[in-house]
Amino acid sequence: MAKLVIQGNGPLNGRVAISGAKNSALPCLTACILSSEPVTLTNVPQVDDVATMCTLLSELGMGVRNLSHGVEIDGSSIHAHATRYDLVKAMRASILALGPLLARLGRAEISLPGGCAIGARPVDLHINALKQLGAEITLEHGNIEARCTRLKGTEIYFDKVTVTGTENVLMAATLAEGTTVIHNAALEPEIEDLAHLLRAMGAQIKGEGTSTIAIEGVRELKGATHEVIPDRIETGTYVCAAAITAGHLFIDKCRPNHLSRFLEQMQRVGLPLSVNGDTIEVKPHTGLLGKDVQTMPHPGFPTDMQAQYMAVMTQAKGRSLITESIFENRFMHAVEMKRMGADIRIDGHNAIVTGPTNLSGTDVQATDLRASASLVLAGLVADGETVIHEIQHLARGYDRLDEKLVMAGARIERVAI
Ligand code: UD1
Repeated sequence: MAKLVIQGNGPLNGRVAISGAKNSALPCLTACILSSEPVTLTNVPQVDDVATMCTLLSELGMGVRNLSHGVEIDGSSIHAHATRYDLVKAMRASILALGPLLARLGRAEISLPGGCAIGARPVDLHINALKQLGAEITLEHGNIEARCTRLKGTEIYFDKVTVTGTENVLMAATLAEGTTVIHNAALEPEIEDLAHLLRAMGAQIKGEGTSTIAIEGVRELKGATHEVIPDRIETGTYVCAAAITAGHLFIDKCRPNHLSRFLEQMQRVGLPLSVNGDTIEVKPHTGLLGKDVQTMPHPGFPTDMQAQYMAVMTQAKGRSLITESIFENRFMHAVEMKRMGADIRIDGHNAIVTGPTNLSGTDVQATDLRASASLVLAGLVADGETVIHEIQHLARGYDRLDEKLVMAGARIERVAI
């Protein structure tokens, strides 16, 4: 166990390179269940969720080999269909094994993910869609138990846009008999990335990146090599790090078009930035203005950037109304920021931030992945020392965040406790 000790000090300056996207690497890893041939994934981020997913796959009997440039997953030896409760508890994205296990083995047993720090987060949409594809699914003793012969393609209408739900059905449908059409599919770049991997494995998919995805099932999928896309949320977090410190940062190896709405918002608040290929240059600003924002499914403003944006708004002039419309309980960072001196009022799904305020360093508690990142950002501009506890949340999804910030001039120490 460790804590992060941050000394607030002036503007960041330098370059950071973005790692592969956690939220793309996870479904790509479970997609490997679909084939009996090895799949090599490159640009895989070194984060705890990826390690947890690799453990899950190896406990199913799959070969997991770390390579210098990625990871090779060999599905030829898969022999189990059940995942441990501990793994699902550690990482809700374990649910991504459900569709592929059903499609490949005709059986899956996965603990029912409970609620989490940011909301209830049910998986009913995943389960209903897989039932429509012909799976028999029962919920007993806290487990999802699913069986099928060969899944049968059909029309799936999602009542609500769900990212991992779309991914689960997309993966399951690749080996189903006939055609599956997913309506109201999620549009996130991670869905497109998964579809690109599946297509390289021999899947027949059309329409990824739009709200209607059609999949023509095939008998089997083969091995492939695939490079995971850069992490757009990590990218946005460094944009916020530069913004909150009024720094000058070059953010390399990213895909700026994957976070257009977010970048547009940052420009609206007065952040000077420019895009050159796969680099975003954030220039020093002389003051930011508070502006309202509402989280929405892609291509809207990402819920995964809400906490970091809130940290920046504490330093912007005026009032910003931040509306969280995806998750019901995603303002826990606000409570900790208030303890640092921020002026934030929570009213249901709305947070009203009035700035700028001087933040002062203190002990704060990380509650979830993105909340942790927002507290690190707040610590970069706080007076004195900010100590972030429970940083295991950070390690789940950020590849060496503290190291990369230190390279850009931040004073952050990781202290064992
Ligand atoms: C994914 C991301 C997460 C991001 C979220 C929203 C991964 C591994 N995680 O999570 O980082 O914050 O998208 O962009 O990619 N819902 C239901 N029933 C379901 C499924 C979802 O009611 O069966 C609700 C959720 O509670 C939530 C909304 O739908 O209110 C969207 O959730 P969803 O898109 O499914 O989020 P995840 O895929 O879990």
